[in-house]
Amino acid sequence: MCGIVAYTGYKQAHPILIKGLQRLEYRGYDSAGISLLDGKVYTYKTKGKVSELESFIKNKHLKGSLGIAHTRWATHGEPNQKNAHPHFSQTKSLSIIHNGIIENYVTLKEELTARGYLFESDTDTEVLVNLIEDIRINEKVLLDEAVRIALCQVVGAYAIVILSDEHPNTLIAARKGSPLVVGIGDDEFFLASDATPIIEYTKNVVYLEDEEIAILTRGEELKITTITNQEKTPYIQKLEWNLSELEKGGYDHFMLKEIYEQPRSIRDSMRGRLNPITGNISLGGIIDYEQKLINANRIIIIACGTSWHAGLVGEYLFEDIARIPVEVEYASEFRYRNPIIGENDVIIAISQSGETADTLAAIELAKKKGATILGICNVVGSSIARVTHAGSYTHAGPEIGVASTKAFTAQVTVLTLMALRLAQIKGTIPKARFMQMLQELDRIPEKVERLLQNNGTTEIIAQKYKDVNNFLYLGRGYNFPVALEGALKLKEISYIHAEGYPAAEMKHGPIALIDENMPVVFIAPHHGIYEKVVSNIQEVKARKGKIIAIVTEGDTIVRNLADYVIEIPATEEFLIPILASIPLQKLAYHMAVLRGCNVDMPRNLAKSVTVE
Ligand code: F6R
Repeated sequence: MCGIVAYTGYKQAHPILIKGLQRLEYRGYDSAGISLLDGKVYTYKTKGKVSELESFIKNKHLKGSLGIAHTRWATHGEPNQKNAHPHFSQTKSLSIIHNGIIENYVTLKEELTARGYLFESDTDTEVLVNLIEDIRINEKVLLDEAVRIALCQVVGAYAIVILSDEHPNTLIAARKGSPLVVGIGDDEFFLASDATPIIEYTKNVVYLEDEEIAILTRGEELKITTITNQEKTPYIQKLEWNLSELEKGGYDHFMLKEIYEQPRSIRDSMRGRLNPITGNISLGGIIDYEQKLINANRIIIIACGTSWHAGLVGEYLFEDIARIPVEVEYASEFRYRNPIIGENDVIIAISQSGETADTLAAIELAKKKGATILGICNVVGSSIARVTHAGSYTHAGPEIGVASTKAFTAQVTVLTLMALRLAQIKGTIPKARFMQMLQELDRIPEKVERLLQNNGTTEIIAQKYKDVNNFLYLGRGYNFPVALEGALKLKEISYIHAEGYPAAEMKHGPIALIDENMPVVFIAPHHGIYEKVVSNIQEVKARKGKIIAIVTEGDTIVRNLADYVIEIPATEEFLIPILASIPLQKLAYHMAVLRGCNVDMPRNLAKSVTVE
């Protein structure tokens, strides 16, 4: 979702800002803009991609060592040049970029209109910048004070950065509910909505907390206060990611690179946590909460999208292996349905970005009701990682492709480790069997590597079905969430309508859709209810549906029924979701490429959904 980049220092700001916007493109956006300060404020903006902004500004005045830049994902008003950020105040003295939504902007706009303000755009952001200007002029206060007073009147979420033609070296930034990171260089500061535009310049960062205001003046220390005017000491952290992780590394798309990174990312999610020889599992981040987990009335997993699918796999894992009752909730539903939560419930919030607005709000709600909240996040220092009581990072590395791939398998890996650890403490599994399970988990990265070497089949299947309008994905048990995830991958990047269902539910409705034009993907490897899935395949075959099946290497029964099979290495049932989801990612990828879709930045989607 919207991206923020800002710079003040000794270099020319414009190339840093444009590169920063390119690094943030993965978040999703529909217009882009930049303001540079060079005596006066120069602002340029366009509808469309950052490359269009680059062409548009080619022969313009681009000097200045202080500037702000933005990619906008429309919430208020159409995605057009007029509504693109930066927005300026009526006197053109202030320029602002903003992520989030000001909920009471209509009332504020009416008040400002009554005082003679005119508005050029339909945005809530233009209201905010004029409110700040109005306070600054009428209350005769400094800009930072005007920002503070204005933010006290605002209801909603924001990450903002403001520049003023009266302060040639200073940026003022603030956040509430929308992320903002300050990068501290030598005689220079950077600001961005996540660390990706900052990494190549400095590893020293400060993640702003909600309701904090940062004043960044070149040549001075970073100053942070709260909107209630309390001074804070900046907490400087070191970034762990490398620049090379943000590049495509020879792959055509980030998504493909991330699919192929999975042997590494799954291994990294287990590194230092699993010892298959001693039988030791140690998840340092949640060690103090293990007793709380095993004594919990129930675990409630909250998440959105792909992370919610990982949560569903978690439900099977915790109940099957550790015998702890689990409920899995969409964060967006949970937060509004007055859920019954008690002190003996443990919430596990799963999020790749750690910034998803609905998941954050659901956490806040559960926290107020006294529950213990653990997080499973990928982005270190993200909002969810910070508001939860404790948690485990997934260590998948930066995920740039909008469609989540390696983050999903890393989430499932961490959930598997958690379930096994709790089973160990509770003694729900005999020691010898437990050791077998651990050893098989340890072999998974190697099996993923083997699976990824088996090239070709998914591409052939994609060629065959790239022009269809509908797909059905069916699986049972542990593989039901895999079916949901496979369908989500296909629809989000290829724009083909796809449904995921528990295979046995097919008879209760979706079977009506089956005819010779309907491809049905079955997740049918060898496991406890293999025969039942084979019966479901027969039901589709009898109605002339086309069958694509994920099977265990060497399978012959399903091979004889299916139009296409994709083999995965044999493994324990509880580990199949990690292996089976990977060919489905590849299938979606090839379908999207063959249909000419923008794989890494699908239409209308944002990587980090920071508004509800
Ligand atoms: C799908 C996808 C989304 C996210 C969802 C939650 O490929 O990426 O469905 O899973 O928006 O995002 P996080 O995990 O960042 O909370």
